Amino acid sequence: MKPRIYIARDLPEPVASYLEEHCECRYWQGPGDISEEQLAEKIGDAEGLLVTATPIGQAVLRAGSSLRVISNLSAGYNNLDLRALQQRKLIATHTPYVLDETVADLAMALLLAAARRVTAMDRLVKRGGWVKGMDAELYGLDVHHKRLGIIGMGRIGEAIARRAALGFEMDVVYYNRSPKPEAEERFGLRYCSMDTLLDTSDFVLLMTPLTPETKHLMGKAQFARMKSNAIFVNVSRGENVDEEALIYALQQGQIAGAGLDVYEHEPISVEHPLLQMDNVVTLPHIGSATAETRLNMAFAAARNLVHALTGQTPVQIVPELQQQ
Ligand code: DGY
Repeated sequence: MKPRIYIARDLPEPVASYLEEHCECRYWQGPGDISEEQLAEKIGDAEGLLVTATPIGQAVLRAGSSLRVISNLSAGYNNLDLRALQQRKLIATHTPYVLDETVADLAMALLLAAARRVTAMDRLVKRGGWVKGMDAELYGLDVHHKRLGIIGMGRIGEAIARRAALGFEMDVVYYNRSPKPEAEERFGLRYCSMDTLLDTSDFVLLMTPLTPETKHLMGKAQFARMKSNAIFVNVSRGENVDEEALIYALQQGQIAGAGLDVYEHEPISVEHPLLQMDNVVTLPHIGSATAETRLNMAFAAARNLVHALTGQTPVQIVPELQQQ
């Protein structure tokens, strides 16, 4: 008998067909992203669940008493209540590696867009505001040869550092739980304290996973340390930043601008103060959103689910649950 699964998000056709071949599938039909409450209602007797950002905690686990495997279609898994999963001895998987280079591309795009005011200039041209050339009001900031401080030197951090150091000849410093001597040697990076990074960088780029230790890692004190002509970029998770503190720093001119792909509450409301600022580039959490990478991630999530349900190895089990 095929294992029963619930698919809580849209999947590209070849991935849906692969799952249909191996499992008995039920699907979330929308509208919109499934909420925790809706998932608890729908989960029924599913043994496997394929999900993205929906919180998976007591509510879903209580309702889904047959659940054995949760496959998270993302690299980050801060939506999973790991302690609750551990108690139930459930397998949870995620999709690291395939998105590293794609997210690094987007991080550089945000950094460049914020520094060279790409989206603000696009808006200016489209509203007929281009009346004379090279006006000082159109000036942005140089990127090449500037100092980039990366907070969080995992695989994506390294991919960003490589682009910045080798492509833009930036002076790259980083702060991480532990130093990465190999990356230092390969790309000429330098490890430093978080304070030194904040005090001296022209661009501060946040690339840490969201954990209880990193929540609001960037707050009032951290933004206050940044240079007034520095730009902050966040491609990690919105909750790593105290958004009130970021808004304050931008309003007070403590920093020059920001490039954001993620927010404390997503989707961000159109009324949000960050969306009213011309020196803030805002994207809708699209770090991994290319056709190629999303297809690869969807296949990885589907394979993880099928392999875990049918006892095959290897699957990309989230690190904290690998020992059970
Ligand atoms: C991830 O996979 O964690 C990215 O943020 C895309 O969701």
